[in-house]
Amino acid sequence: MEFPFVKERQYFPILKNKIQLSSCSQSAMSLQVEAAMKEYTDGWLTEGMDWTGWVHRVEMAKQSFATLINASPDEIAVLPSVSLAASAVASALQFTTGRNKVVTTEMDFPSIGHVWLAQQSRGAQVAYVPSENNEIPIEFYDRYVDEQTLIVSMSHAAYYNGLKQDLKQISAIAHGKGARLFVDAYQSAGCAAIDVKEMDVDFLAAGAQKYLLGIPGIAFLYVKKELADELQPSITGWFGRIDPFSFDVKSLDYAEGTRRFDTGTPPMINAYAAYAALELINQIGVHRIEPYLNELSNFAVSYGQEKGLTIASPLDLKRKAANTAFHCPNASLIEMKMRERGVIVSARNDVIRIAPHFYNKKEEVALAIDMLYELKS
Ligand SMILES: Cc1ncc(COP(=O)(O)O)c(C=O)c1O
Repeated sequence: MEFPFVKERQYFPILKNKIQLSSCSQSAMSLQVEAAMKEYTDGWLTEGMDWTGWVHRVEMAKQSFATLINASPDEIAVLPSVSLAASAVASALQFTTGRNKVVTTEMDFPSIGHVWLAQQSRGAQVAYVPSENNEIPIEFYDRYVDEQTLIVSMSHAAYYNGLKQDLKQISAIAHGKGARLFVDAYQSAGCAAIDVKEMDVDFLAAGAQKYLLGIPGIAFLYVKKELADELQPSITGWFGRIDPFSFDVKSLDYAEGTRRFDTGTPPMINAYAAYAALELINQIGVHRIEPYLNELSNFAVSYGQEKGLTIASPLDLKRKAANTAFHCPNASLIEMKMRERGVIVSARNDVIRIAPHFYNKKEEVALAIDMLYELKS
């Protein structure tokens, strides 16, 4: 297959000089994102405060994220991080009835586990679905989710090794027991198809800086319309009110729908960047990005195996997102040495993660694997 994104690759100037394969952590910067941030700073510098315009751009970013996951814009809130999005959801749940169990997994990003552990003081019991060879067999969810489970919280794709889980199956298990499903989609949004309606997800959060091509400081929270009006997050602020500009200090009126999960002043410049980045992803289409990244995944796995490297990611492509993790005992040091040689990858504990996006070529993945093999030996 010929490289399909020749035109789009040119939007990322860094690729002329470096090999950037770190989308599981921070993607490359596009000219569109640079221009959007400049639009914000130029406007502020020359025209002064444009509150209405800035807030409007936040709404546009919500809309683009809604398009990406097949939600409606009024089902999206904006928060500064995925951790805070999860905390806001947790703050809206009551753990005092018979249903007080949170089922999460050993493969989840620690921060989200911490959010649930912090709910123990409010009555939550946290159970961790174990992993087996860096995977989670679906039967394990069946075993852990029971009639006491209030919510299941899991990552669509795992930060450590890209393990991709079947949301439709997991939502059926959760809902079958009367529990809700919270999905951390930070490692899948932008590289793997997400349809919250088809997958029947209740809550979903993703930040902008990984496969969504944006910057840190902004995250999107989806809350299913039918559910949102029942919930009253205690992590809140004036943007979560019916009319933020009523300035009524004595009234805690929750806005309709998911807007009630908005908190304080939104991250404006981050929303400019996120909107530009999301528009690019939506224009190209995840339906084109995902198969190409599967091809790169396939190549990374087979080429790595040829080299004798140990792969910590699932070998079955249906169970894997774009990130391929290679065992590497001194991963942080190797990451640093690769960076010195112009190859940007991402280390976590004992793995080097090679996480391409649509703008990467097979040759770049090969070169990174060659370098990893050489430095590791
Ligand atoms: C899967 C996943 N969830 C959550 C986070 C943390 O997100 P935030 O820093 O926005 O809270 C990360 C960060 O790497 C992640 O990979």
